[in-house]
Amino acid sequence: ADWVQRTRQGIAEGRFPARAFNDQSVYDLEQKHLFSRAWCFLAHESEIPSAGDYVTRFIGNNNIIVARGEDGTIHANLNMCRHRGNVMCKSEMGNSSHFRCSFHGWTYKNTGQLIGVPYMKEGYEGRLKRKDWAMVPVRIDSYEGLIFGTLDPESESLGEYLGDFRFYLDLYLKHGEQGCEVHGPPDHWLANTDWKICAENFAGDGYHTPVAHQWGFHLGYFPSSGSTHSQGWAASVPGRGHGVGLGHSPNFPPFGGFPPELAEEMKTVFSAEQTEVFSKVRTAVGTVFPNLSFLMQPFSLVPGEPGVRFVTMRLYHPVGPGRMEMYSWCLVPKGASKEYKDAAYRAYTLAFGQAGTFEQDDFENWAKVTRSAASTMVADVDFPYSMGMDSDPDPNFVGPGHVVTPYVNDTNFRNLWSRWGDYLANEV
Ligand code: FES
Ligand code: FE
Repeated sequence: ADWVQRTRQGIAEGRFPARAFNDQSVYDLEQKHLFSRAWCFLAHESEIPSAGDYVTRFIGNNNIIVARGEDGTIHANLNMCRHRGNVMCKSEMGNSSHFRCSFHGWTYKNTGQLIGVPYMKEGYEGRLKRKDWAMVPVRIDSYEGLIFGTLDPESESLGEYLGDFRFYLDLYLKHGEQGCEVHGPPDHWLANTDWKICAENFAGDGYHTPVAHQWGFHLGYFPSSGSTHSQGWAASVPGRGHGVGLGHSPNFPPFGGFPPELAEEMKTVFSAEQTEVFSKVRTAVGTVFPNLSFLMQPFSLVPGEPGVRFVTMRLYHPVGPGRMEMYSWCLVPKGASKEYKDAAYRAYTLAFGQAGTFEQDDFENWAKVTRSAASTMVADVDFPYSMGMDSDPDPNFVGPGHVVTPYVNDTNFRNLWSRWGDYLANEV
C-alpha cells in the first residue's frame, strides 16, 4: 500500500518506478484490482460474424468464450464447466452451437445454458435443476464492433468508461459507412515483455520512432514524413487513462493512403470536428486503458512509393510479471476493394505482424526494459516522466480531452499511469 501511494505521488511529480515493469507483487495487485474491475477488450464482432462462431480470450486469468448464439446475439461465459471445472472449449476459435464437456459430458448451448446432463434421472433423482448450473456469464458491451467485458457487475457503463475517447477511437473504426472488420485471425505470440511497456508506447511514444525505427526513414518506407516527425498532438482523456498520439506532416495529403473514394465517404461519417482533426493525421497511435491499442499509418510497400494506410489493433494480455501474450489484428474498411484490403494487410504484416520489422525493433527494446526492471538494483530507481509537464493545452485544437503539442511528450503517460494508480489503490 505504501509503495502504491509513493508511486502515485511520483507520477504526479513526473516520475515512475522501474520496478513496476517486472515484479510479482505489482502483477498480483494488477490482477486483483485492475483486471478484475476495468472494461477489458475481448473481440471484434467481425471475428464471429455467423451464428455459432466463437473465440476464446482472457480477462486477467479468466478464460472466456465469446460466442454468437443462434439468434445472432453475442454471449460471453467463463470457459469452465459448472460440474467440476473442466475447460469446456479447448480451441481458440471455431463454430459450434453447443459445447460438450470432455470430462463427464455436461452439454451447454453456446449461450451458456446447460441443456444436457448424463444420468440426470438415475444419478441426481430430481435434485439437480439444469437452470441453476449455467456457465458463469461475463458482463459485456460493445462500441463500434469492439466487444469489451468486465468482471465487475457494479462498474460504470462501457460508454462512461470510454468517455470522450470515443471521438478518437472513431479514427480507427469508422472507415466508411460500413465500418471496419478484421482481416484474418490475429497474430498471437508470447513475449518476455511487461504489458505496460506496450500500452505506454502506443499511448503516444512519438519520441522512440525516429530512433528505434530509423531504418524506415532511411530506406523510404515512411511516405513524406521527412524531418517533421515530431509535429502533431498528444491527446489524453484526463482521469480515464486513454490517450492518442497524432502525428502530423504538413506535406502529407489529408486521409492520404486510403482509397480516395473511401476518404470521401469518411468525411460524411465523421463529425465536422473529427474531419478537421483526422484530415491532419498522418500517423496515429492510441491506447484504450488498460491494454488495448491501435495504430494507423501509411507504409510504402515499395520504398519511395506512395504509402498504403493500414490499421492494427493489439491486445496485451499479461500472463506473469514481465511476460505477456500479444494479440495483433489488421483492421480494414469493410467497404473497401479486395485489392486495397490485401495491400493494407501486406503493409501491416511487413511492419507490425509477428515478424514485422517495426514489431522486431520494438520488442527487442521492450524485452530489455523488462529484463532491467527485474534487476535487484532497480528496487528504488525511478524514470523521468516529466516531458511536457508545463505545456499548456493547445487552444486551437477542436478535439476533446487534454491536448498538447508537439506529440513528443509524456503527458499521455502520466495520465495512463495515474489511472493505473487509481485502480491499484482501489479508488475507482
Ligand atoms: Fe464437466 Fe464433469 S467437469 S462434466
Ligand atoms: Fe515502435
